[in-house]
Amino acid sequence: MSLLTFAMLYVADLSAKLFGLKRSPPPFLFLLTLKSHFQKYLYRGVNFASGGSGILRETGSNLITQFTSVRDNFTAMIGPAATEALLSKSLFFISVGSNDIFDYFSSKCKTPEEKFISNMISVYCKHIKNLYRLGARKFGIINVPAVGCCPSQRLVQKQINGFNNVDSACCGTGTLNAQGRCNLTAYLCPNRPDYLFWDLFHPTQKASNLSAQTLYNGPQYYVSPINFAQLAKNN
Ligand SMILES: *[C@@H]1O[C@H](CO)[C@@H](O)[C@H](O)[C@H]1NC(C)=O
Ligand SMILES: *[C@@H]1O[C@H](CO)[C@@H](O)[C@H](O)[C@H]1NC(C)=O
Ligand SMILES: *[C@@H]1O[C@H](CO)[C@@H](O)[C@H](O)[C@H]1NC(C)=O
Repeated sequence: MSLLTFAMLYVADLSAKLFGLKRSPPPFLFLLTLKSHFQKYLYRGVNFASGGSGILRETGSNLITQFTSVRDNFTAMIGPAATEALLSKSLFFISVGSNDIFDYFSSKCKTPEEKFISNMISVYCKHIKNLYRLGARKFGIINVPAVGCCPSQRLVQKQINGFNNVDSACCGTGTLNAQGRCNLTAYLCPNRPDYLFWDLFHPTQKASNLSAQTLYNGPQYYVSPINFAQLAKNN
């Protein structure tokens, strides 16, 4: 089994642990720097994630190019049939889309919301079909989270709804600690496990752990049609 992840999240690290891996799959760009041991590392899976990735951003199509290159490397090593067999048993975890939605709102884009979302979905489907065409079969598609719950977006809504401390980021400045980024001089909360958000966008270790546990073992209400543990087993 090989784990290929497309999620730039601590959730990916924690999920790798739940699958019994000692550490997260190495990043694709790290593989490119290897002069030796390339083969050994390739079998640990590959992380194609990137900071600030998006479906409609450049990173969306980059990942197909990068995955194609890894597939070529396996083909050169073990031949096409064994590569096909390996990829069909490998897990492909993809978590992307929030940044596209943040981009939409921050750009004051004139496209109607429904049209924007349907375009995003059609580009997403195109990428998934490409991965399928290249041999991927087992997908763990992580939904775009409720981005409106991020402290950054709460800040915009607070005039309408009111808010409480659960909505606040652990580290940052201003209202909800969401007006300025977490940096050396920002406020830092005393007890991180009480918070779901680390800064104005990103989840805490506590929240990431809850997500990882749920994706791995959770009930159908949260992860369907099967959870990640079942996906890994079900060969
Ligand atoms: C992996 O495949 C890519 C694309 O075909 C190629 O450029 C690269 O040299 C290969 N790496 C190794 C170590 O074989
Ligand atoms: C931290 O962020 C605040 C508000 O965004 C800014 O005023 C301050 O200069 C920053 N401090 C550092 C050390 O970057
Ligand atoms: C994640 O949660 C589990 C179960 O609650 C706990 O045993 C584990 O230590 C946590 N891991 C991290 C990294 O927080």
